Amino acid sequence: MHTILVTGGAGFIGSNFIRHLREKHPTSRILNVDSLTYAGNLENLQAFEQDPLYVFRKVDIRDRPAIDELFTLFEIDDVVHFAAESHVDRSILEPELFLSTNILGTQVLLDVAMCHWKRYPDDKYSREYREDVCFVHVSTDEVYGSLGETGLFTEHTPLAPNSPYSASKAGSDLLVRSYHETYGLPIKITRCSNNYGPYQFPEKLIPLMVHRCMTDQSLPVYGDGGQVRDWLHVEDHCEAIDLVRQNGRVGEVYNIGGHNEKTNLELVRMILQSFDRSDECIHFVKDRPGHDRRYAIDATKMKDELGWVPRYSFEQGLEETIEWYRTHPEWIERIVSGAYRTYERDMYSSVE
Ligand code: NAD
Ligand code: TYD
Repeated sequence: MHTILVTGGAGFIGSNFIRHLREKHPTSRILNVDSLTYAGNLENLQAFEQDPLYVFRKVDIRDRPAIDELFTLFEIDDVVHFAAESHVDRSILEPELFLSTNILGTQVLLDVAMCHWKRYPDDKYSREYREDVCFVHVSTDEVYGSLGETGLFTEHTPLAPNSPYSASKAGSDLLVRSYHETYGLPIKITRCSNNYGPYQFPEKLIPLMVHRCMTDQSLPVYGDGGQVRDWLHVEDHCEAIDLVRQNGRVGEVYNIGGHNEKTNLELVRMILQSFDRSDECIHFVKDRPGHDRRYAIDATKMKDELGWVPRYSFEQGLEETIEWYRTHPEWIERIVSGAYRTYERDMYSSVE
């Protein structure tokens, strides 16, 4: 049976990716490994609880013996690695956690995958692996740092991260590359721009602003709101990652982006309009230290090599996303109240 290990599958992109896998590859087994930090929410995956080909294990990726045991038990074919601390603002307050999870956690996964996938595990210098295995590392465009008013990030843009989050992602991204160069491990790396869509934790810009509109609160815009992000619908991102997993070239980096550059202020105004609220709701607050000014991706390689282009226009994607949050108010409310953290306990106690 073909088994795909998804790390961080209870988070925003990981849970959307599991939904994508289940739809496109109904006979593959999915093993979701997630330690359920504040960002992990099993309610995102309720639909799969009875699915015999879906398995969840609450495990920290830094726990080497536990990861090793899972590789033995499940005979993993592919790894798609999402698990990470992902919020820039938190990384400014707690950088060590970001280095530990994002870099050392990635190293554990690489070591264990290498050990289990090697044809001759006792030969330190052997570069031969089982056929058809691959480790997909989900990196970010933030590893490139910040752009000026013009230009795009290509796969050859030098890495110049500016926040502890992006530095930790750059560290893991380079570590993955090094395991390919040194040990021949079959890896692929994706670097994607900002995602939006259903199930995004409401500390991130779009769900935060939508929730604040839904609850008649002001909208906090950092600095002058002129920072530019290149927005991509999460389903387009999931499709791109799955294409890289299946058809991407080993050892390669693929940039993924939406050609949807918007300033934060433009975006916040679009959200306000959809709620028939005025610009007076915007509240300019102190800027984030080291705030990157502009991200924008050149995704030509994805198009030329893998035939991928995004399906969603930003207008349609944003409208559908706002509608999803509007029609799932309980999903956000359970996060805001903390009730989502009890879901796991309730679920296991009902099984016992
Ligand atoms: P998220 O914060 O919503 O989810 C992260 C998940 O990882 C959570 O379920 C959390 O419980 C889990 N996790 C954290 N530490 C763990 C650990 N030590 N062991 C096991 N599980 C752990 O993040 P997201 O927005 O879904 O991002 C997923 C990945 O995609 C990240 O690697 C991020 O860097 C990358 N990425 C995100 C974006 C974006 O716009 N959100 C864009 C490009 C790349
Ligand atoms: P975020 O969703 O945190 O993603 P990232 O920092 O990884 O791009 O933020 C997106 C942009 O929105 C970023 O420029 C910071 C800005 N922002 C605000 O202006 N106000 C907010 O309350 C938040 C959370 C973000």
